[in-house]
Amino acid sequence: MALRCCRTIPALGLLLLAIVGILLVVLPAREMETPPENTYGIVLDAGSSRTTMYIYKWPTDKLNGTGIVTQHSECIVAGRGISSYAGLPGGAAKSLESCLERAVKDIPKARHHQTSLRLGATAGMRLLKQVNATESQRVLQEVENKLRSYPFNFKEAAILSGQQEAAYGWVTVNYLLENFVKYGFVGRWLNPGRERIGALDLGGASTQIAFETSETVENEDNVMELLLYGQTYRLYTQSFLCYGQDQFLRRLLAHLITTAGVTSQVAHPCYPQQFNTSVLLGKDVFDSPCTQSYRPAHFDPQMHVSVVGTGDYQSCLDNITKLFSFDNCPYSKCSFDGIFQPNVSGRFMAFSAFFLNHNYIDLLTNIPVTSPSRLKEAIRLMCNMTMSELTQKTKAKVKYVKNICAVSNFVQVLLLQGYSFDEHSLPSISFQKTAGGASVGWALGYMLSLSSLVPAERLGLMKALPPGPWAGILFLFIALIPVAMVYLLMIYRNTRTQEGMV
Ligand SMILES: *[C@@H]1O[C@H](CO)[C@@H](O)[C@H](O)[C@H]1NC(C)=O
Ligand SMILES: *[C@@H]1O[C@H](CO)[C@@H](O)[C@H](O)[C@H]1NC(C)=O
Ligand SMILES: *[C@@H]1O[C@H](CO)[C@@H](O)[C@H](O)[C@H]1NC(C)=O
Repeated sequence: MALRCCRTIPALGLLLLAIVGILLVVLPAREMETPPENTYGIVLDAGSSRTTMYIYKWPTDKLNGTGIVTQHSECIVAGRGISSYAGLPGGAAKSLESCLERAVKDIPKARHHQTSLRLGATAGMRLLKQVNATESQRVLQEVENKLRSYPFNFKEAAILSGQQEAAYGWVTVNYLLENFVKYGFVGRWLNPGRERIGALDLGGASTQIAFETSETVENEDNVMELLLYGQTYRLYTQSFLCYGQDQFLRRLLAHLITTAGVTSQVAHPCYPQQFNTSVLLGKDVFDSPCTQSYRPAHFDPQMHVSVVGTGDYQSCLDNITKLFSFDNCPYSKCSFDGIFQPNVSGRFMAFSAFFLNHNYIDLLTNIPVTSPSRLKEAIRLMCNMTMSELTQKTKAKVKYVKNICAVSNFVQVLLLQGYSFDEHSLPSISFQKTAGGASVGWALGYMLSLSSLVPAERLGLMKALPPGPWAGILFLFIALIPVAMVYLLMIYRNTRTQEGMV
């Protein structure tokens, strides 16, 4: 009996070793409990109305492209966008100082040199470039010099194209929702097999749309191919300059003033009833490339025009619809202004000013935007509200509140008549400001795309060992099992025969 016991122990030990070995190799490796060291990246989103600085971070020791970039902090630059400092040398650079100082404090000193720093300018600078290319270049150079004076790893200060801006927004949305890769079982990065979602962005000077399509895109300028994690994504992208909310409101004002024949008082159907404000023809209305086509032959830029609200939903909607062109489509179909667009497909996320406007609809009417008719119903209600009703319910400033009816109708025309969202597809838009703790916008997608944090190659088996040796070791441990079993069986047989002989 004792003999059998002694002989079994090494065999059982062998079996145990094989099982423990297999488990150690197969189970996902636990992280060492040392605090992770972070790498940081800074992106300045230089929009037309303001600049926002985002600091992102990710663990340094992780392999590239593993969906772990998070937003560390965000800083809103005081004052207006960098393009508004045209003709004011030094102004744009100076405006960025306080946020950059904060980044110096926010990011551990030892990581400063590894921290990439980028500034992307959008439609505000695209417009300035149209007006005065020399001046836009000067503003950009001035900003670049300022960024270079900080201890970070300066990469670029550039004006993004509309297509880039649209595509980076799409990358951000789908990265934050983990629609590209997900950490699966047994330590593998998997394609989660989820549908990617489209991106709708509304800025101050332009608006963007980006979504995957299987339809033929009739204008090559609207195609953007992205290679992410070994997969090619074919996007339809379009950016509409002068269809950002600030520039659109300016166009509406220019249209109303010109139509009224440039008198000292003009009715505004989108402003709340009896609301009265005064605008300067130059600075507030015609001093923009977006309102050039409405400009009368002769006008005094210093002339004040008193604008009086009439709160008329239908007239507001009609006037706004006139600012879009729905004819002269050179393709089989168009969204508007002769721009090709395939049918919208899949779900969408609408962010930035789309979110803000949706939030106002929610606060003021409590009507869920689940169909075109409910959207119209909500906007009609808001256009009928008085200034005091609007300010009380939203707790927002008059300068924003006065435009709620106009912006809502603009969004309505853009989504329903422009992009052709309908009964079926409108509810598939989710209006969001943040996802996964990060602000939704093009900034994250811009940094990810340019810093190979989203690699073009498929992610392999993420193990400490390369796949070859890893498989070899696993094979050895598996081979140990039959060896241990045979050994056990032999001992068992042996002792049986010995016992039988006794
Ligand atoms: C991540 O990508 C960068 C740029 O391609 C490369 O220099 C770096 O070594 C990569 N890091 C790891 C951990 O693979
Ligand atoms: C453009 O800006 C430059 C300064 O950068 C200025 O000298 C020039 O007069 C401007 N041109 C126009 C047409 O405004
Ligand atoms: C609006 O204000 C201007 C100047 O303050 C005034 O002349 C005008 O009569 C006002 N209009 C209305 C309808 O209150």
